[in-house]
Amino acid sequence: KIPVIIDCDPGHDDMMALVLAYGSQKLDIRAVTTVAGNNTIRNTTQNALNVLHYIGADEIPVAMGYQDPMVRSHAQVMESFMASRKKMRPQETVPAEEKKITGASVHGVSGMDGFTFPAENPKKACGLHSVEMMAKVLRESDEKVTLIATGPLTNLGFLVRLYPELLEKIERISLMGGTSEFVLSRPFMEFNTFVDAEATKIVFESGVPITMFGYDVTYRVLFDQDTVDRLRALGNRTGGMVADLLSYFRENHNKALTRLELGDRAPIHDACAVAGVIDPTLVTDSRRMHVDINIGGEFFDGATVCDYAGALEALPQNVEVVYDMDTGRFLDSLIEAAGRCL
Ligand code: BDR
Ligand code: CA
Repeated sequence: KIPVIIDCDPGHDDMMALVLAYGSQKLDIRAVTTVAGNNTIRNTTQNALNVLHYIGADEIPVAMGYQDPMVRSHAQVMESFMASRKKMRPQETVPAEEKKITGASVHGVSGMDGFTFPAENPKKACGLHSVEMMAKVLRESDEKVTLIATGPLTNLGFLVRLYPELLEKIERISLMGGTSEFVLSRPFMEFNTFVDAEATKIVFESGVPITMFGYDVTYRVLFDQDTVDRLRALGNRTGGMVADLLSYFRENHNKALTRLELGDRAPIHDACAVAGVIDPTLVTDSRRMHVDINIGGEFFDGATVCDYAGALEALPQNVEVVYDMDTGRFLDSLIEAAGRCL
């Protein structure tokens, strides 16, 4: 089994990432660590605990991490985004919930609306902070460990800064974040990398090999109603839970982004970063290149600037940018994994 740590902010697609990781039976999940992003740290942590308990993964330790980004507060990051949005699209009226960093317009007020987990959950977060947990796992491991990151990179940024001696124990970082060509809101902008631009820059400059599953690939490998039906038809409780949550996410995501005209299809961003670790042959198009993280400025704060033309010859090709995956096999792997959970 491949030893991994999953750093996440559940989040519907983070939930799918956890189900895939656990149900695949190919990963040795040494810890799940949480970060704020799709919602507050309190809620993302509770969501992670709820998912793991529900699918039967009680043995996996969960450690709670940071609420705010490394340097700026969520409020400051959001203020700069709103100012640029106003200039980009002056006619637009922004719904109140979108003015908060929590992603509530898509993930709901809990960060994972659309399914009611049992009120009592015996599974609790362990006493360690996320960063301490990551350091402990790395220190105690005989083999190198792969970090899978599906939220803002705050915890990883601190890990790089606080424990540089442990970086050689990281096999690579497989992350959902960034975008090279696909434009969702503004060029080069994706939620996770934008929420904590400073942490992203630190991680991308750490020298640890990075595989970036950004919008370029996540908006290519979409699920549809057939996927939801197959999940429900599994007949186990995980299949039902996943079917409910993916349906909720699809409805809200597509309502918020009507111009994408996705019909009954929607992305499952975070699951891509797990799938690529379980089975690298799922990736059908990826390119190594230099990726620089821009800090500040009016329109490109937190941008993943990708040198896809290879112009910056002397700079390290620090990132493998993924552009496409085998959709059919990816979706099959999600359904199989859910079928192996409770
Ligand atoms: C990313 O942001 C969050 O909404 C999702 O969980 C995913 O990690 C997509 O931009
Ligand atoms: Ca996420």
